[in-house]
Amino acid sequence: MNRPPEILALVNQKGGCGKTTTAVNLAGALVDRGQRVLLVDLDPQAHATMALGQCPDIGLTLAEVLGDELPAAAVTIKVPGGLDLLPASEALSEFEVAAELRIHPEQLLHRALSPLASTYDTIVIDCPPRADGILCANALRSCTTALLVIETGAFALQGALKALDVLAAAASAQDHGFRMRAVATLFDRRTRFARELLVALQARFGPTLFDTVIRTSVRLREAAAHGLPIQLHAPASRAAGDFTALATEVMALGADDIDSALREALGSSAQIQVPVQATGTSAQFAEDVIPPVPSTSSPANQEGIL
Ligand SMILES: Nc1ncnc2c1ncn2[C@@H]1O[C@H](COP(=O)(O)OP(=O)(O)OP(=O)(O)O)[C@@H](O)[C@H]1O
Ligand SMILES: [Mg+2]
Repeated sequence: MNRPPEILALVNQKGGCGKTTTAVNLAGALVDRGQRVLLVDLDPQAHATMALGQCPDIGLTLAEVLGDELPAAAVTIKVPGGLDLLPASEALSEFEVAAELRIHPEQLLHRALSPLASTYDTIVIDCPPRADGILCANALRSCTTALLVIETGAFALQGALKALDVLAAAASAQDHGFRMRAVATLFDRRTRFARELLVALQARFGPTLFDTVIRTSVRLREAAAHGLPIQLHAPASRAAGDFTALATEVMALGADDIDSALREALGSSAQIQVPVQATGTSAQFAEDVIPPVPSTSSPANQEGIL
């Protein structure tokens, strides 16, 4: 019997931190590793849809699926890179308004994806920047892992901690557990600030931060402009290598070693919630998942940026 799919929701309420770039290229790299992958574009901006060369104003989209009109399989399209895509359009914003009138509107995506459980090994959901809205609530209700995408820029840590609060609130509002992981993106190792921030993120997130760091690469911008995942656009590039490494880590999710490493890092008495359970306050959750940061006298920290 097939294992149920790993369902990743890429989240952060911070705009422009690399959610869509990570979603598209991680999905492409997973296909490259032999996985059957569905990318769900849950953002009315439809950037993932466009980054795969599709026009969001033409054809059926996820809005019709969430509106209960069509099964997800009827709307799924094949896109370059061997990926399946559930495309988005602006109509998702209207859905968000209409959904307020429905009972349990946060369960609609979960219900729509359930019939596809045996069709895919991994489902990647690209979330909109509005992390406390009904669209993101649908992603968190559906996912097995919430993947926090953190740009290694100014105020990243504050943003990530705020995002953790949103995740914790969603976990307590829903009777649904999910695991939490984080990935650092837009990393420029030439800047001292980015290097220091990465160290701070590693200290805060411990083993929940993926080892792979997605570096800044003009190739990724080019790939999106060509409507292709990086594995097709520039397979030998450094950026393609970063996403292959991330895909390898994602494929190892579910293996006990990562979660036991986290337990060890936090001490055996820590009441950690991995996967996150619908208990505890957000503050507890944040403390449980994030070990205390060591004090540092780095210039970035003195400026209060870290
Ligand atoms: N690793 C990277 N290297 C170079 N450019 C990148 C990288 N990651 C993202 N970008 C660029 O940064 C911009 C924002 O990225 P992206 O659209 O992935 O962010 P987002 O978090 O999905 O934004 P939004 O919150 O609006 O959905 C885009 O122009 C994208 O091409
Ligand atoms: Mg996006």
